Amino acid sequence: MTLNTLSFSLIFCSLLSASSIIAKVQHHNFVIQETPVKRLCKTRNAITVNGMFPGPTLEVNDGDTLEVKVHNRARYNITIHWHGVRQMRTGWADGPEFVTQCPIRPGKSYTYRFTIQGQEGTLWWHAHSSWLRATVYGTLIIHPAPGSSFPFPKPDRQTALVLGEWWNANPVNVINQATRTGAAPNVSDAYTINGQPGDLYNCSTKGTVVVPVNAGETSLLRVINAALNQPLFFTVANHKLTVVGADASYLKPFTTKVLMLGPGQTTDVLLTANQPPKRYYIASRAYQSAQNAPFDNTTTTAILQYTKTTTTSPPIMPPLPAFNHTKTVTSFSRKFKSLRNVVVPKTIDENLFFTIGLGLDKCPKHFPKNRCQGLNGTRFTASMNNVSFVLPSNFSLLQAHSNGIPNVFTTDFPAKPPVKFDYTGKNISRGLFQPVKGTKLYKLKYGSRVQIVLQDTNIVTSENHPIHLHGYDFYIVAEGFGNFNPKKDNSKFNLVDPPLRNTVAVPVNGWAVIRFVADNPGVWLMHCHLDVHIKWGLSMAFLVENGVGELETLEAAPHDLPVC
Ligand code: C2O
Repeated sequence: MTLNTLSFSLIFCSLLSASSIIAKVQHHNFVIQETPVKRLCKTRNAITVNGMFPGPTLEVNDGDTLEVKVHNRARYNITIHWHGVRQMRTGWADGPEFVTQCPIRPGKSYTYRFTIQGQEGTLWWHAHSSWLRATVYGTLIIHPAPGSSFPFPKPDRQTALVLGEWWNANPVNVINQATRTGAAPNVSDAYTINGQPGDLYNCSTKGTVVVPVNAGETSLLRVINAALNQPLFFTVANHKLTVVGADASYLKPFTTKVLMLGPGQTTDVLLTANQPPKRYYIASRAYQSAQNAPFDNTTTTAILQYTKTTTTSPPIMPPLPAFNHTKTVTSFSRKFKSLRNVVVPKTIDENLFFTIGLGLDKCPKHFPKNRCQGLNGTRFTASMNNVSFVLPSNFSLLQAHSNGIPNVFTTDFPAKPPVKFDYTGKNISRGLFQPVKGTKLYKLKYGSRVQIVLQDTNIVTSENHPIHLHGYDFYIVAEGFGNFNPKKDNSKFNLVDPPLRNTVAVPVNGWAVIRFVADNPGVWLMHCHLDVHIKWGLSMAFLVENGVGELETLEAAPHDLPVC
C-alpha cells in the first residue's frame, strides 16, 4: 500500500480513561503535496493535504487524542497549527513555525500528538508557515464527549462551511513579492466556501457548494473564517441564524441575519428550514474597516437547497452589509455571552496594555527605491507596543526556553506602550510610526491572572484586527471605541457571562479587554490573524513558566521534533 492510499486511513485504538468513558486515539496521515487545482478558469499547482482542497475534516469527541503524522512532500518548509486547541502541556504540538517548533523540511515528517480537553464545537487546523495556509486548512469538529450532548436540541443535520481566500498566483510568491517591495501584497481573486468561489465568479458555477435541507429540519452550520487577510460578513437569504457557539465554546443563543467573523474565528449557528422550498444563496463578502486600503470586493456564494424543491428559478440573493458597516459588527459582537455564568479572574496579577497597529519603516540606506514601495517611499510594518516581532531562525522559542539556549529571545516585552499618546487620534506624530524590531517575550508565572487591554492605533490606518492567542481561551470582558479609559470603562466589564474565545476582533479604532489564567506552561504566540500583519510583525509571545509538579509542567519534547 502506498502512503497515499494509506494517507487518510483511520485507526481507532481505545483506552480506558479514569472516568471509565472510552476516550479514543485517532491516527491520521497528512501528506503535504503539490496538487493541480482549477479555480476561476485557471489551473495552478496548490499545496494541499492528501491532495484535498480544503483539507480533510477531522471529527473527534471531547476527550479524544489526535496523532497526526505530517509528511512533507512539497518544496516548502511547513508546520500545522491546531487553531484553538488548548494543547495543555503539549506546546510542542501547537505548530507555529519557529515558535513551538522548527519547520518540517521537504522530505521530512513530524507527528503532532495532543488531547482535546473540555472543548466542544468547531475549531480548525491550518499551515503556520509563510502563506501556505491559503490552501492548507481544514475543519476540526469536536463533538460532545460520549454520554453528553449539545446544550440545545440535537440538529437534524450538520454542515461545515469554511470561508477561504483564493489567489490565481502562488500565495507564497504573493507574500514574497510584498516582502521584497515593502508594499502591501496583492489582494485575493476570490473568496470561497468549502474551496469553491460560487456562481458569481467566472467558470465557477459547476463547483458551487450545495447545502441540502429538508423543510422543517434544523441544521447546525459550522462557519469558519479561514481567509488569509479579510474579516468577512456571512448571511443566508430569507433565513434567520441562531448563534449557539463560537471558537468551540457555547453561547447564550441569539438570532441574527448576519455574522461577522475575523480570520481565525468560528461561529456555530442553527438554521431552521422554514421558508418556501426553493433555493437560497449563502453569501459572504468583506468587512473592510481600514480606510483607503485596497481589498477584494467580490462575493462568494453557496446554495441552501430544499430537497423537494422543483423550482428552476435562480437562488434568492440576500442583502449584505456595506463593506465598511462597523455598526453591524458592533451590534453583533455585543450579543455574545457565555451560555452559563463563568468564573472570570477578578483579582488581576498582570495588568497589561498592548497597542496593536501598523507602522512605516524608513527605507534602509542600502535599499534601492523599488524595495520601498510602502507609503511615501517607506516599507509597511506593524507592531505591538512598538515592538515589531521577529521570529528566530536557528531554534524555536520553545526549544530555546526549554533547553536554556541563550541569545534566541529576550523577556523584556513591555507591559505598556513606551510612549503614551492619543492612540486613536487623527494627528499622530510621524515619530511614532517607526517601531523597533525584536524577539521579545513577556514572562508569566504559572497561574497568574492576566488582563490585556488590546488598543488599536490609528497609525497609518486603524483597522479591526483579529487577535489570536495560542494555547488559551480568554474571556472578552469589554469592547469599545476610541482610547481605553479605565476610569470610565472598567465599570462596563462583564464579569458574569462574557464569551470565551481564542480570537477577538478588536473594534476598528477601539479596544478590547481580555482575561485569562496562565495555566498552560510553554511559549504561546499572540498575533493578528491577518497573515499580512504577522509578516509585518504584529505579534508577540508569552513565556508561561512551569508550576509545581508534573501536571503543571510542560511535557518533554517529542523525539521527532524537527531541527532548524
Ligand atoms: Cu490560526 Cu497563529 O494561528
